[in-house]
Amino acid sequence: MKPTDFAIAIMAAGKGTRLKTKRPKVLHEIGGRALVLHVIAAARQVVDASNIYCIIGHEADRVRAAVESTGVQFVLQAEQRGTGHALQMVKAFFTLGGTAVPENLLVLSGDVPLIRPETIDRIRQVHQAEQAAMTILTAVPDDPTGYGRVLRAQPGTDAPDVLAIVEQKSLSPDQLSTPEINSGIYCFRTSALFEKLDLLDTNNAHGEFYLTDVAAMLVADNQRVVAVKADSVDEVLGANTIAEMMHLDAAMRLDTARRLMASGVTIFRPETAVIDNEVTVGPDTVLEPYVQLLGRTTIGSDCRIRSYSVIQNSTLGDNVTVRNGCIMDSATVADSAILGPYAHLRPESRIGEGAHVGNFVETKKVTLGAGSKANHLNYLGDAVIGAGVNVGAGAITCNYDGVHKHQTVIGDNVFIGSDSTLVAPVTIEAGAYIAAGSCITENVPTESLALGRARQVVKPGWATRKKQGQESR
Ligand code: UD1
Ligand code: CA
Repeated sequence: MKPTDFAIAIMAAGKGTRLKTKRPKVLHEIGGRALVLHVIAAARQVVDASNIYCIIGHEADRVRAAVESTGVQFVLQAEQRGTGHALQMVKAFFTLGGTAVPENLLVLSGDVPLIRPETIDRIRQVHQAEQAAMTILTAVPDDPTGYGRVLRAQPGTDAPDVLAIVEQKSLSPDQLSTPEINSGIYCFRTSALFEKLDLLDTNNAHGEFYLTDVAAMLVADNQRVVAVKADSVDEVLGANTIAEMMHLDAAMRLDTARRLMASGVTIFRPETAVIDNEVTVGPDTVLEPYVQLLGRTTIGSDCRIRSYSVIQNSTLGDNVTVRNGCIMDSATVADSAILGPYAHLRPESRIGEGAHVGNFVETKKVTLGAGSKANHLNYLGDAVIGAGVNVGAGAITCNYDGVHKHQTVIGDNVFIGSDSTLVAPVTIEAGAYIAAGSCITENVPTESLALGRARQVVKPGWATRKKQGQESR
């Protein structure tokens, strides 16, 4: 089967009524990524994006916007009248749009997100080897309730032939115990599918066009319908309720944690780790309990990430220490830096090699040079800070005048005394000292001392006189 003879359709038009949420079902996330994006990612491992047809309908614009960058094609199902109707729209798209009809069409469900490319390939191979008109991916879960069941022609034998798929609500009492479920994933000989689609009706519990009815129709026509069992039940579990999604989410994240542990990462209490799919972590790094690594986060080797830190879309080098409770978003941290506890690195924070960012320090759009330290209670925003700088406790940049943001530039080896306020735009050149408690509004030349505070006045005996009523203030 040449790839050009093969296309993939993804059913993603449904509302997800059982979720009771405004967000369309296929945009709910597991492992930090929308359900439909998991399915598209697997499909793209098998065929080119231009041969993937994503069927959208409910909140079509929102779904399209979320997946557009993958390069898949879109088929609109304006009204959602069932999975059979969804494929009728694909047929119309091909025949009315003049697109060449692929010889075989593999159908995936946008809400069956753990499907692996290897399995898609296997369905395709079985489909070809069995010369089937329809090949159904099935599984035997502990509890089949809610799924359509696959009725085999010769139950208990190896024969793959199928008689029909019966939806949960249509099961007769003696069919209720059928253990094998329909995964909602199929491969069709496209001509056979397209012929039967027009014959579907809505005489069923949901009043919808069921794609699953095509199975019995093909069998009645002496065409072959076969089942292929998935290697793991988890792979074909559907996500119809939030509880089901969170079950898949936990399974996926535990999988990610196991993959990282197998590559040399220590994860204490891995069941508490919230790690998104695309995260990478180097060997010899230790993650303490209740750490979240989200989005496109990359962490080097020999790091220690202590409990309750939440790191999103950030890049950490090697040997970095993240103490408890740090929050990072779109930050870059070089080797051997030490952060926290309770540091907040906001977007475009670039922390240099061996630099320290300590307790209750907030950074935003800041470059902090190698070996520089901001250890206590600082706000550093819109600043370029050189190497070897010491920022004393409580010192802050005043980067905002109420209308515009301005930059603070601090040269190498500058010493900023505690509780200083640096009013931007301002430059403090290399080697300068800022006296504690200064309000700095003008540039400070290299190697100089700047004092920007009122002189201290001491009045000896003042307190005694006040107590005696001789001093009014
Ligand atoms: C479907 C199958 C069932 C199978 C189960 C596996 C049918 C009739 N039943 O049931 O046999 O066991 O999947 O998970 O197909 N969709 C559209 N347009 C529509 C309706 C649905 O694109 O008009 C999409 C949904 O967004 C979803 C997928 O098709 O991604 C499946 O629809 P859903 O309503 O969840 O079907 P199930 O009841 O789970
Ligand atoms: Ca479903």
